[in-house]
Amino acid sequence: MRLTPVGPGGPDPGSVDLTDSELYRSGDPQGLWRVMRARAPVWWQEPGETPGFWSVFGHADVQRVLRDHRDFSSEGGNMLSALGSGDPAGGRMLAASDPPHHTVLREVLAPMFSPAAQSGHAAEVRDAVRRVLQPLFDGRPFDLAEVTAEVAMAIVGPMIGVPDADRARLSRLTNMAIAPEDEAFRVRDRRTTLMTAHFEIFQYFADLLESPADISPHHMLGLLRNARPEGEPLSSDDIIYNCYGLLLGSGVTTPHVASAGLLALAEHPEQRAALAADETGIASFIDEAVRWSSPSVHFMRHARRDVEVSGTVIRAGEPVVAWIGSANRDETVFADSFAFDAARSPNRHLGFGMGRHYCLGASVARAGLTVFFEEVLRAGVDVTLTGEIGHLRSNTIAGFTSLPAVAVPVG
Ligand code: HEM
Repeated sequence: MRLTPVGPGGPDPGSVDLTDSELYRSGDPQGLWRVMRARAPVWWQEPGETPGFWSVFGHADVQRVLRDHRDFSSEGGNMLSALGSGDPAGGRMLAASDPPHHTVLREVLAPMFSPAAQSGHAAEVRDAVRRVLQPLFDGRPFDLAEVTAEVAMAIVGPMIGVPDADRARLSRLTNMAIAPEDEAFRVRDRRTTLMTAHFEIFQYFADLLESPADISPHHMLGLLRNARPEGEPLSSDDIIYNCYGLLLGSGVTTPHVASAGLLALAEHPEQRAALAADETGIASFIDEAVRWSSPSVHFMRHARRDVEVSGTVIRAGEPVVAWIGSANRDETVFADSFAFDAARSPNRHLGFGMGRHYCLGASVARAGLTVFFEEVLRAGVDVTLTGEIGHLRSNTIAGFTSLPAVAVPVG
């Protein structure tokens, strides 16, 4: 993860494989990204184990690629894992669709994210967050990465309609889907891990879909099943792809903002004290924690026509990867970009994306993380690490697999 400042110099862009998941676990991609921003802001990686692709690293270029859906399509898949093979969810799942279908799907899902729908879940979310935070309050040793994984499911479980009993299993399956090479989640090999994760998540929602009595019309599955976009119901496959997309989008990102935010508070007692004294600062603190941790490392697009980006022509059909983690440390946009500043303003981070595909769940993530940090601050405890940090081995999600810790009263 990119929590450390980097010195001058750094790796040679020519020798780099940006797809290598090991880079994100044991290396520090910020060191590399800083070099790329300075020396190769629009960069073609030659074909190797994957087909060749363009990368953009600076804030302005990342923003442009993510925002400009007319020039850059999501339908060929929006992650590096789809490179070369395409995405079977292309044109069916919200995040992998272009307008006009994207607009229709987004309207179908919008009621789930309305303030009224969210306030309906607020009490349940706070109870569930308090429950999973119990190890911090009791003074027992715990693994913060496990706690925050549960917190994420506590935040989105009620709106997605996933019962408590299934949340731990689904959380593990989503991690298998985005980090199939990580020993913490791998089952035999990469391919088997991916196939198992996809099969089990799809089967889970297919089974739910077949038991209509259990489906609330206000939850994700109910909304998708009852929707009649353009007069026709969505096919079962389309419903399941979108359940998968929502589960993945929420479950694999939110925990790492919670963990990184807590670690930042422990490292900056003065910022922590200011927040405890005035909780209205939590909103900007959360945005800084999103910028700082940037759990969504990259998103991908394909050029729809020949397009010029910062003086380089990207040909129609070529893939372009927008490195969000890099853009969020762009020193031309963020003052002292390697410093954590809970009160940073303005904070034009791209952690939730930009444009039509701007994170649909951003308000849910913000509200849930607010509950999480309010509870921790009110308990008056700080987290101290007691062992090695385990970083996720993934080029898609920056996060933690293990954070052995204890909570100690704030001194
Ligand atoms: C802090 C946590 C989160 C982060 C950092 C995050 C990040 C992102 C980013 C960067 C995108 C843009 C994808 C693209 O441009 O291709 C996105 C899209 C999306 N996110 Fe999130 N997300 C978070 C939480 C959530 C939650 C809690 C949910 C659901 C409850 C969610 C659901 C979605 C969906 C459905 C999309 C696709 C939107 C579209 O294509 O129109 N996310 N997210």
